[in-house]
Amino acid sequence: MIDQGTIQQILDVAEIADVVGDFVTLKRRGTSMIGLCPFHNEKTPSFNVSQAKGIYKCFGCGKGGSSVNFIMEHEHLSYTEALRWLAGKYNISIREKEENPEDIKERNDRESQLIVSEFAQKFFDGQLWDSNSGRLIGLSYLRQRGMRDDIIKKFGIGYCPEGKDIMTNAALKEGFKMEFLEKTGLTIKREDWVRDRFSGRMMFPIHGISGRVIGFGGRTLSQDKTIAKYLNSPESDIYHKSRVLYGIFQAKRSIIQEDKCYLVEGYTDVTSLHQSGIENVVASSGTSLTIDQIRLIRRFTNNVTIIYDGDQAGIKASMRGIDMVLEEGINVKVLPLPEGEDPDSFSRSMSSTELKEYIKGHETDFIKFKTKLLLAGVENDPISRAKLITDIVSSIAVIPAEIVRSEYLKECSRLLDVRETVLYNEIRKLKVKSEDEMIKHQERELLKEANVKAPIINLPLPEVNPCENEERELLKLLLKYGSNLLYEVENPEQETPDQVSVSDFILAELDADQMVSVNPTIKAIFDEYRLHFDTENFDAIKYFVNHSNLQISQLISDILSEKNKLSQFWRKKGSFIEEEHEILQQLVPKVLQECKLRYISFLIGQAEQGIRKASEEHNDDAVLEFQTRYQKLKTVEKLLCGHLGKRTITS
Ligand code: CTP
Ligand code: MN
Repeated sequence: MIDQGTIQQILDVAEIADVVGDFVTLKRRGTSMIGLCPFHNEKTPSFNVSQAKGIYKCFGCGKGGSSVNFIMEHEHLSYTEALRWLAGKYNISIREKEENPEDIKERNDRESQLIVSEFAQKFFDGQLWDSNSGRLIGLSYLRQRGMRDDIIKKFGIGYCPEGKDIMTNAALKEGFKMEFLEKTGLTIKREDWVRDRFSGRMMFPIHGISGRVIGFGGRTLSQDKTIAKYLNSPESDIYHKSRVLYGIFQAKRSIIQEDKCYLVEGYTDVTSLHQSGIENVVASSGTSLTIDQIRLIRRFTNNVTIIYDGDQAGIKASMRGIDMVLEEGINVKVLPLPEGEDPDSFSRSMSSTELKEYIKGHETDFIKFKTKLLLAGVENDPISRAKLITDIVSSIAVIPAEIVRSEYLKECSRLLDVRETVLYNEIRKLKVKSEDEMIKHQERELLKEANVKAPIINLPLPEVNPCENEERELLKLLLKYGSNLLYEVENPEQETPDQVSVSDFILAELDADQMVSVNPTIKAIFDEYRLHFDTENFDAIKYFVNHSNLQISQLISDILSEKNKLSQFWRKKGSFIEEEHEILQQLVPKVLQECKLRYISFLIGQAEQGIRKASEEHNDDAVLEFQTRYQKLKTVEKLLCGHLGKRTITS
C-alpha cells in the first residue's frame, strides 16, 4: 500500500504533458497539445492532451484519462504499479503503508475538512448578503473600496460576523464536528473557551486548483495598526500555504488562453485586476515564491510577468526567488508600478483600456531590468562592476535553454559594455558546480548504459547515416577552427588557466558519450584526426585534402566547399549575422548537442525495432532488454532537449 502523502506527491508532479511526452511527440495547438495516438494506428493526430485539465483523450479510438491512467494503459500496469512507475520516473521515494482503519480515517478527515470549509464559505457569503451587519459593515466596506458585486460573487468573498463564536455555533448546529472546525483553523478551541478565528473580518476564500475551498484569508476592518491586516488559515491537511496561489482557479482558463500569467502580491490585487478585465493573474499572498507555486503556474504557461509595488521594498521582494523562476525555464518579465501604487490602487485609478496599454508599454524583460537597475548604483567603480557582472551572469546561468541564455548574454554584453566572451567565461566558471553539469553527467551515464551492451538480436545497419549533417559540421569546425581557443578553465594547481581548444572540446565530448559515426569514411577521419591533432604544426586541411584515401579527400573537399559561409546551425531570424569564428562558443556546443540528439533518436528507433523484432520472435528477455534501453534513451533525449531549449523553439 502506498501512503496517501506519497500518492499526492506523485499526482502533483506527474504532469500529463510530461508523462505522455515520454511516449508521444506533442505539439501545441490552441489550449491543448496534440500528437499521434499511441494506442491505435493513425497518420493524422487525434490524440489530445489538456494540461489544464490534466487529462489525455484520443478522438480516434476514444481512450482517455489521467497521467496514471495513461501509464496503466500504455505500460499495462495496475493502478498501484503505475503509481510506482511514476514514482520511479520522478525519483520520489515511496512510503509504504498498510491501509488500516486509521488510513481510512485520514482519507475521510481530508474530505470532512473540505466539506466544513465549503460550509464556512457559504455561511460567510450568506452573512455578507443577507444579514444586517453583513450588509452594513461588510458589503459597504467592499463597495467603498470600489469592488463590483459580480467580482465579490466571482471570488465568493464573505463576511464573518463580529462575535465570539457565531460561525462555530452555526456549524455545530448543522452537525459539523468540532474536530474539523478546529483542524481547518476556522475555530480556535482551548480548554475553557471556543472562538471564531476570523470574527469581524472580510473573508477571501482560497480555492484549490479544482475549485474547492481549502482555506481563507481574513482582512480586518479595523484601522488599528497593531492588529494583523490579514489573518490566514493555518496549515492543515488541506491547506499548505507554500503550494497555493490565490486566484489560480479563477485564472487558469485565461492563463492558458493568453499563454501568460501575471503575478501579484495580494488578494485585492487579484480581484481588482479581474475587475479591470485582466483575469490571468494570481497572488503569492505576501510570501516569497516557492518552487511548488512556480510549478503550478508552469502547468499552464511558461510566461510570467511579475507586477510589483512601486517602492524599494517591492523591488527587493520581487528580486528574491527570481532565479528560481528562471531556473524552471520560465520567461520572466517585470512590470514596475509608479511609486506608492499597488496593482489594486493602480488599476482602480484608470480605465481598463488605459491599464492594458500601460502594461503593454512598461513590461520589461527581467534580465535587462536587473542589469539597468544594478548598473545605476555602480557607476565606474571597477570592483562593484565586477560584482555586478557575476550577479547578473549567475541569473542568466540558471536558464535552462541555451538559446535564451545566449540571447541574454548578448543583450548584457551590450548594456554592460563587456565582451561576450568575458561573460561566457563567467558562466563557465559558475557552471562547473551547477545543475547543468549534473544533468550532463546523468545523461552520460544513461547513454553509456543504453549503449554499451551488445544487442541480443542483431539489427541491420542503417542505410543512411542519421547524423550525417551534424558530423560533417563537426568535421568542418575541427578542420577550420580546431586549434582556436574555446574557453579557459581555472586550474587550482597551476598559475595559468587551462586552455580548451575547439578540438579538445569536440573530441572529449564525443569520447565521453562513446559516439562513433556509422559512416566509415567519417569515422576514419575522426580517428585519424585524433591521432594527429596534437602534433606540432599539424595542418588538418592540408592533411585530409591530400589524403591517399580518395573517399576521405573527396568528403573533405566537399565539406570545405559548401557554399553557405555560416553554419546552418546558426540561423537566426532577422538579426545581424556574425562571422562563424566569432560565435564558436555558442556554435560548437550547439552542433554537438544536435548531433547527440540525432544519434539518440537513431538509437531509440533501433530499440523500437528491437522490441518489435524480439516480440515477433517471442524472445521475452530481448523484449525486456530493448524496453529498458528504450526507457533510458528517452530520458537522455529529454535531458538533451532541455539543454537545447527545444521546448522553447517548437512551442
Ligand atoms: N498578507 C498577509 N498577512 C498580513 C499582511 C499581508 O498574509 N498581515 C498578505 C495578504 O495576502 C495580502 C498580501 O500579503 O493580500 C499583500 O499585503 P499588503 O500589500 O499589505 O495588503 P494588500 O493586498 O494591499 O491589502 P489591502 O489592499 O486590503 O490593504
Ligand atoms: Mn492594497
